[in-house]
Amino acid sequence: MDPFKSRVTPAEGKLAVLLPGMGAVATTFIAGVEAVKANLARPIGSLTQMAHLRLGKRSEKRWAKIKDLVPLARLEDLVFGGWDPIPDDAYTAAAKARVLSPEHLAQLEAPLKAIRPMPAVFDKRWVKRLEGQNVKKGSKRELANQLVQDIRGFMDKNKCARAVMVWCASTEAYQEAGPEHQSLAAFEKALDADSPDIAPSQLYAYAAISCGIPYLNGAPNLSADFPAMIEFAEKKGVAIGGKDFKTGQTLMKTIIAPGLKARMLGMEGWFSTNILGNRDGEVLDDPANFKTKEVSKLSVLEQILEPERYPELYKDLQHKVSIHYYKPRGDNKEGWDNIDIVGWMGYPMQIKVNFLCRDSILAAPIVLDLALFGDLAARAGMKGIQEWLSFYFKSPQHAASVYPEHDLFVQKVRLENNLRYLVGEELINYLGSDYTNE
Ligand SMILES: NC(=O)c1ccc[n+]([C@@H]2O[C@H](COP(=O)([O-])OP(=O)(O)OC[C@H]3O[C@@H](n4cnc5c(N)ncnc54)[C@H](O)[C@@H]3O)[C@@H](O)[C@H]2O)c1
Repeated sequence: MDPFKSRVTPAEGKLAVLLPGMGAVATTFIAGVEAVKANLARPIGSLTQMAHLRLGKRSEKRWAKIKDLVPLARLEDLVFGGWDPIPDDAYTAAAKARVLSPEHLAQLEAPLKAIRPMPAVFDKRWVKRLEGQNVKKGSKRELANQLVQDIRGFMDKNKCARAVMVWCASTEAYQEAGPEHQSLAAFEKALDADSPDIAPSQLYAYAAISCGIPYLNGAPNLSADFPAMIEFAEKKGVAIGGKDFKTGQTLMKTIIAPGLKARMLGMEGWFSTNILGNRDGEVLDDPANFKTKEVSKLSVLEQILEPERYPELYKDLQHKVSIHYYKPRGDNKEGWDNIDIVGWMGYPMQIKVNFLCRDSILAAPIVLDLALFGDLAARAGMKGIQEWLSFYFKSPQHAASVYPEHDLFVQKVRLENNLRYLVGEELINYLGSDYTNE
């Protein structure tokens, strides 16, 4: 056996996939995994299930499927659990979310009906537009302890060897890190003092890390992206990552913008707007919650285009983003992008993108990959922020000393090289010296 490969503990036994928030994204993810297991669907959009990696020199013509290269948990070994203030089982929640057709859901009724959310740590202060009765009671410290008990109880009951947590709950109101977020000691003091500035998602992250479980954040809220939680993850040797699944318009932005920049084309403006009618859209209709999303969406272009390095091309760039809650569309978002670009001798051009996408269909494979890669990171002994998973996030969590990397293709190279490294394969630098020197 390869000496490097043996350093990653094998994926033996069951893996608990714990999901705070069992709405559209979470149920579409679970339904998809069950459909793949039952041979009713293919895992389209998932790198862990479908992608191949080139290995060695180009002249070797050697490729491997990611799941054959690194030891990943098998879909058959995943056990799903979660929390939601709305007590619907996963089948009912999926039916209400109306992402999947009733015919599709009917075939998956049994496994979905068996999944019932545990009572959530929920506070309307952070998500105004939701009402829920399936909610825990207690002080912040007690709530964190109850989550720890839930995690341990779930793993015991389902005989799970390991667990991973992926936040799929609503986007919380905007918050910047305050004094209580600056160190683990300050955070724990605030926890004991029942501070109103500790959001529910931070209690889930704290509970996961306490149990030694990787925590990946699919929404843009602060959650684990502040010094105290990073310190805690480092101390406990736990992998964390976030924020905000990269789907829809931001995915398109991080595909198109690096291409335009690579050709040194200028940009005067990028106007993005969309209509969305699911519960996520309803929550984001509240300005405090939209602000969290807006910050996440806006950061992308600045970093990719580097206006400070290329003032002649991007100095005056106007970037606008808006989201409109429009019920008739449900989960089937429609996005419009108008990009004003500038070419040779300053001549203007326009690009229009009209993306009729399905939000949860794009997000579900990301949840799967994050769960499997998060678990891989744990078995490989990787702790703290997992920047190699930036590929999946709109605002990638990063070390304080560096800027986040948004370019999808740079992110992809980073992810692939990380996998090659884990199994002792040569890292690819695209110099081409392998064949030109022959
Ligand atoms: N679908 C996408 O393309 C996409 C992309 C990026 C990010 N996201 C984010 O993923 C999250 C889920 O999206 P969705 O479409 O499934 O939304 P959704 O509204 O259908 O589901 C979210 C669920 O979270 C529950 N919830 C709220 N607060 C909770 C708490 N404190 N604890 C446990 N559960 C809680 C809600 O009751 C709801 O059932 C949202 O934050 C969204 O912004 C989605």
